[in-house]
Amino acid sequence: MERERLEAIWERTVEKLKEVVREFKITEAELHEAGDYFNRLGQSGMCRSLIDVALAMTSVDVVASKSGGTRPNLEGPYYAKHPFRANGNLLEHEPAADAARLVLYGTVTDTTGASVADAELDFWQADSAGIYDRKGAHLRGKIKTDGSGRYQVTTIVPQDYAEHDHDPIGELFRAMGRPNIRAAHVHIKVYVGGELRLTTQVFMPTSEYLGRDYVEGAVSDDLILRFEPEPSARGSKSYRAKFDIAIAASPEAVAS
Ligand code: BEZ
Ligand code: FE
Repeated sequence: MERERLEAIWERTVEKLKEVVREFKITEAELHEAGDYFNRLGQSGMCRSLIDVALAMTSVDVVASKSGGTRPNLEGPYYAKHPFRANGNLLEHEPAADAARLVLYGTVTDTTGASVADAELDFWQADSAGIYDRKGAHLRGKIKTDGSGRYQVTTIVPQDYAEHDHDPIGELFRAMGRPNIRAAHVHIKVYVGGELRLTTQVFMPTSEYLGRDYVEGAVSDDLILRFEPEPSARGSKSYRAKFDIAIAASPEAVAS
């Protein structure tokens, strides 16, 4: 970061924080308590995660508002390289008996509405117990849009999951009496012509945490799926959900 920008950001940040100290009449002892907390946070390697949790979506939205299209969202810590799924099925084995099936489908267009054929979509998500497959590729995989820009994947409805139970971020959320839980979501990346054009997440309408996802600003109405219930032979629930994706103009096409 260039010197002038760094200095301007530092000055403004200190000004804003001084306002907080005045508003809450924060004592020197409380400031030192905060300093000790940040020391612990740094030792645990979690400073970047706390910034993601508190501020990263604000940054994502500021950049995205210039280019339009589907709202981007954070990549999060569980992205990996994924296999191509010719049949669109993200399951590598039978899910738990109570897992609800989900067919996620839609179109990929650009912001003029023109369909994007051959776009590569990359999906990853937690299972019905809120666990990501970190060793294999269950509930992970890539597909391509067809000649009309359509896509479809077969998966299950993921569950909410807790993050940071055993580090200083969890400690902070517990101290505030807030859950450190992510509302259930499926991550999606979209590549066009090999170039990454969108990273986002779609949220499950069944989640109890849509209004209190611990990642500040992550959930928005436009990213919450609308489930269309389907008859299911297995006795478990089954849904379809349509999520149309609009690819924003390339960053270089957007004047800053
Ligand atoms: C996630 O989506 O997996 C995630 C994003 C930001 C912070 C923690 C988790
Ligand atoms: Fe996630």
